[in-house]
Amino acid sequence: MIANSKSSSEVEAPTAISGEKRKAIACVYVPQLMPTGQAHRFEFETRSLPGRRVVCGNSSVSWQEQATSAENPLFAYVTSSSVLQLVRSRVGLEDVLDISQTECWISRYRTGEYIGVHRDCAGIIQLLLCLRAPNSGNGGDLVLRLKQGDRSFSLKDGDGLLFRAAEIEHYTTELVPTKWCPNPVRVVAAARYFVMSSHADHLHP
Ligand SMILES: [Fe+2]
Repeated sequence: MIANSKSSSEVEAPTAISGEKRKAIACVYVPQLMPTGQAHRFEFETRSLPGRRVVCGNSSVSWQEQATSAENPLFAYVTSSSVLQLVRSRVGLEDVLDISQTECWISRYRTGEYIGVHRDCAGIIQLLLCLRAPNSGNGGDLVLRLKQGDRSFSLKDGDGLLFRAAEIEHYTTELVPTKWCPNPVRVVAAARYFVMSSHADHLHP
């Protein structure tokens, strides 16, 4: 289910293309991109995927990452025609017909875990899907360092965020225990989209 565009928010950044100024979208927040139940199903169904520990910045902090294959229902979702249409239409890629490749993985954070400040190494746009959010007060916020200033997102179950992860510095805040939730978890799916190189050159001269 694609959320109504009126309920989402966008941050625009001007990009020069073919000698003209047009607006490219830096990030689009899409609350309730999918129903909470569907997000929880994806979270549950991916628990058994092979995982690895990854680090970013602080070598003493790691979290679990699990790659999905084309056979996985989550992968099928992020490459479905409705989601690809959302990606194209909401971030200034309307004229890009060929999203040539998609990578999709799960990140699972527990107490003390976070991802440090970074830019992704590849991809023209990324869709972050929150499959299971920590409770309020347990941390786990996503922060984008936009030109307009830092913007923090407390994504809830089923929320989506489209953003240019290879261009915008971003990080998450540490998951911390509280009296009410001593063992918080944060589970997100990340889908990284690529386009044909000729299109990429056109979009980012
Ligand atoms: Fe990232």
